[in-house]
Amino acid sequence: MMYGWPENDDSKKMLLEQVRSFSRSEIAPKAKELDETHRFPTEIVKQLGEMGLMGMMVSEQWGGAGMDAVSYAMAMEEVSAACASTGVIMSVNNSLACYPLDAFGTDEQKKKWLIPLAKGEKLGCFALSEPAAGSDPGGLRCIAKKVDGGYRINGTKNWITNGREADTCILFATMDPTLGSKGVTAFVVDTKSKGFTVAKLEDKLGINASSTAQLFFDDVFLPADCLLGKEGQGLKVALATLDGGRIGIASQALGIARCAFDASKKFAQEREQFGAPIAKLQAIQWFIADMATRLQGARLLVWSAARSKDMGIRYTKEAAMAKLAASEAAMWITTKAIQVHGGYGYTKEYVVERNFRDAKITEIYEGTSEIQRLVIAAQEFAGN
Ligand code: CAA
Repeated sequence: MMYGWPENDDSKKMLLEQVRSFSRSEIAPKAKELDETHRFPTEIVKQLGEMGLMGMMVSEQWGGAGMDAVSYAMAMEEVSAACASTGVIMSVNNSLACYPLDAFGTDEQKKKWLIPLAKGEKLGCFALSEPAAGSDPGGLRCIAKKVDGGYRINGTKNWITNGREADTCILFATMDPTLGSKGVTAFVVDTKSKGFTVAKLEDKLGINASSTAQLFFDDVFLPADCLLGKEGQGLKVALATLDGGRIGIASQALGIARCAFDASKKFAQEREQFGAPIAKLQAIQWFIADMATRLQGARLLVWSAARSKDMGIRYTKEAAMAKLAASEAAMWITTKAIQVHGGYGYTKEYVVERNFRDAKITEIYEGTSEIQRLVIAAQEFAGN
């Protein structure tokens, strides 16, 4: 089942069948254990790499699968419907690590850093947020000091997905904090560099199988060829990267919501109260109808943003709308899914409990819902 548009595309149908079958047979059966033990799914990530799903939109020349963003959104939804933690690991590598290297890297940088990431042989992370700079990355304090042959980095990065496992880090630091957003500069960092440490791991509400780390940069030396883009252009690199990242997270939210929705339909047809399945009750039917409508509405926004990206149209506003709609739909749908399940839904025995916890982060990372609204309003007032 393709969920409507784009129904006539054979390559997407094939991809969907392949990813759905893999997600159902290899990922979903492990998702509960991964959530409970907080284990990073190394073996699954390796298989995703072998299937071309870790660098989906990177051209084959640079180790990727050469697919479009709509295909990426569809694959992300499937993987996330099975396990939201695996979904975010995949999203960060594709959108936040591969993309900036592909879009802003030199051929030498692509050869060295992008190929292994896109092939899934190495894992990437994206270090923008800091203890005192989350929604406002122009105010970051991690310092990049120019020295002979390169840069010295000092500072702390917070809430970094894949931070514990990453081989490669896309780092944002400032050449001069007094310059505000104009000082921010992007770098690519080998996490084996001297002075780089994973300082702390967060104990979270959900997406437990993915790591969320605090990273320390203690006088880390970066050779000059680790500069990504130009000095002072880092915020643009970060924000352009996040446009694509938001399509990934929106797709993750769709997957979480769909899992909860499917579980609710099944439960409503099996659970009997007042002498009949609760699916016969109008109260439940209305929940199901509203869930279906919000899910499909969000999905079409996600696919529309992805299609604009594929067509080379500026998709900043559409990506923000997609993430806002999909993450809020996921939170609403998972809340109602627990309601449909009643007392059962509040226990760990039913998947909707995990869906509810996993959904919350989609309203926060890669730009909170409030930031998405800011971006949408700014684009509207700019006439875009
Ligand atoms: N693409 C390219 N360039 C862009 C852009 C985009 N989407 N948006 C803005 N820019 C450019 C602007 O043109 C501007 O350039 P000039 O200075 O040349 O004019 C520059 O970037 C700064 O833009 P703004 O003045 O609009 O920036 P701002 O400081 O006012 O911020 C904001 C705007 C919308 C609040 C933005 O900062 C934002 O999106 N904040 C949220 C950040 C975020 O999503 N953080 C999540 C962290 S990542 C994460 O979650 C990690 C993880 O592991 C999952």
